[in-house]
Amino acid sequence: MSTQDYAISQWPDTDALIEKAKQLVSQPIRPIRRDKMEEYLQYFETRCAKSRAATAEAAKLIPGGVQHNLAFNYPFPLSISKADGPYLWDVDGNRYIDFLQAGGPTVLGSNYPGVRDKVIEVLKECGPVTGLFHEYELKLAQLIHRHMPAVEMFRMVGSGTEGCMAAIRAARNFTGKSKVIKVGGAYHGWSDQMVFGTRIPGSGPFEAAGIPESCVQHTQEVYPNDLDGLRALLEQNRKDGGTAAVIVEPIGPESGTRPVHYDFNAKARALCDEFETLLIFDEVVTGFRLGMGGAQGYFGVTPDLTVFGKCIAGGYPGAGGIGGRADIMSTFAAGIGGGTQKTLVGGTLSASPLSSAAGYFAITEMERTNAPILAGRAGDRLCAGLQKVIDELGLPFFVYNHGSILHLETHGVLLVDVTMDDLFLQLMQRKKMAEEMGAAYTAEGVITLAGSRLYTSMADTDEVVDDAVERFRRVLSAVE
Ligand SMILES: Cc1ncc(COP(=O)(O)O)c(C=O)c1O
Repeated sequence: MSTQDYAISQWPDTDALIEKAKQLVSQPIRPIRRDKMEEYLQYFETRCAKSRAATAEAAKLIPGGVQHNLAFNYPFPLSISKADGPYLWDVDGNRYIDFLQAGGPTVLGSNYPGVRDKVIEVLKECGPVTGLFHEYELKLAQLIHRHMPAVEMFRMVGSGTEGCMAAIRAARNFTGKSKVIKVGGAYHGWSDQMVFGTRIPGSGPFEAAGIPESCVQHTQEVYPNDLDGLRALLEQNRKDGGTAAVIVEPIGPESGTRPVHYDFNAKARALCDEFETLLIFDEVVTGFRLGMGGAQGYFGVTPDLTVFGKCIAGGYPGAGGIGGRADIMSTFAAGIGGGTQKTLVGGTLSASPLSSAAGYFAITEMERTNAPILAGRAGDRLCAGLQKVIDELGLPFFVYNHGSILHLETHGVLLVDVTMDDLFLQLMQRKKMAEEMGAAYTAEGVITLAGSRLYTSMADTDEVVDDAVERFRRVLSAVE
C-alpha cells in the first residue's frame, strides 16, 4: 500500500484521541454564548423564511418534517434548491459550504456534471428501470472487482442497510451459524438485527423501539478496540453454535467517531480465521472514499464480504451492494435460481440502469480525477486549519480526520460512556449543544453532519477550505 493511493495521509494517534474524548465528556459543556446564539437564531428568522414555511407545511404530512435524520436541523430544516461542487443553496437564496456532502457519497462534489450528463444519456435511452439486465450492471461489477480484487462477485441492492442485511444473511447461510458480532457504537443501517449497540458502545437494544427482543437475540457487541473481548465472545460462541460473522466499520464505529487502532482490522481478521468466522467490512462510507481500493486496500486486510453503499451509486438512488468471496456470494439467489439453500435478496429497483450507470461513471471519474486523494487533502487542510483555531482559542475541543472524513468534537454527544451516572442528562445537554453548534455553523454559511462530522470532496479547493475555517473560527470564538 502506498499512502499516495489513499486519502489518509497519516493514521491518527488513536490512544491520544480516546484520551481527548474522555477529557471532553468529563468536563461541563462549553456551548455558544447566549447572546451570540440569539444572533445565530435570528439568522434563521430573517434569512430563511421560505425554508421555514416549507418545512412547517411538510411537518403536517411528513413525520418530524423530514424524511431522514441527516436533514434534521435546528431550529428547523433548510429546504435546499441547488447543489454545485462544494456549495448548496437554500430556497431563500443563501449559499453554504457543504460538508454534509449528502452523508458521504459525493466524493467528486455535489451534482458533478461529468456523471450527471452520462446518467441523463442512459435515462434518455431506457429510463430509470426496466427490470431486466443492463450492461452497466456488468461494467460496475467489473470496475469494483478491478479495484477491490477481494470482491470476486458483486450483488447490487438498494441501500447500505440492505447490503448489511444481505451480507449477514449470506454469512449465516454459508456458515450455518447464527451469531453476529459487531463493534459497539457502529452503525450498520436500521434493520431489526442491527439496531443494537448503535451509536454508543454498550447501549445494546437501547434504540430498538418497535423491534422484538428476538430479532437481536443473535447480535452481540464488543467495545471498540477490545480484541480480548472479541476473542472471549468468539470462544463463548464456539461452545454455543459458533459465530457466523464479525462485522466492522474498518475505521471505527460511526465513521471513526470511535477511532480504532491501525492494526485492529488485521487482528480481527486473524481472530476470524482462528474461529472460522467470516469477516464483513462495512465499507458503506469508506468504499472508494478512502481510495479506489477502499479500507481493505488501505489496511491491506481482506474481508470475506464487503458491504457497499453511498459511493457505489455516485450519490444517485439505489446505493447498496455486497461483494466478496465467490463461494459465499454464490449462495445468493436471484429469483428463478432460488431454492431453500439460497440466500434470498432482491428489490424491484435494485441495480437499475440509473444506479448502475451512475455508480460506474462516478467511480470511473473518481479514478480519472484522483478524487479520493484530493478530497483527503482537503480534509487534511481543513483539519489543520481547525486545529489551529482550537489551539489559538485555547478550547477543550479536538479535531481529527481520516482523509476526507473529519470529526470536529465540541459537544461529544456520541462520546459519552454508558456507565456515566448522569448519562441521560449528559445526552440531553450534549445533544442540545450539538444542535446549536450545527445551527451556528449553518448561520455562518457552513453545513455539517449533526454539528460534528464533515465530509470533504474533490470540489473543496484550498480557497473553499480556508474560507470555511474562518467561518468556523467565528463560531468557535463565541463559545462560553
Ligand atoms: C457504515 C454504514 N453502514 C450502513 C449504513 C446504512 O446505509 P443506508 O443509509 O444506505 O441504508 C450507513 C449509513 O450512513 C453507514 O454509515
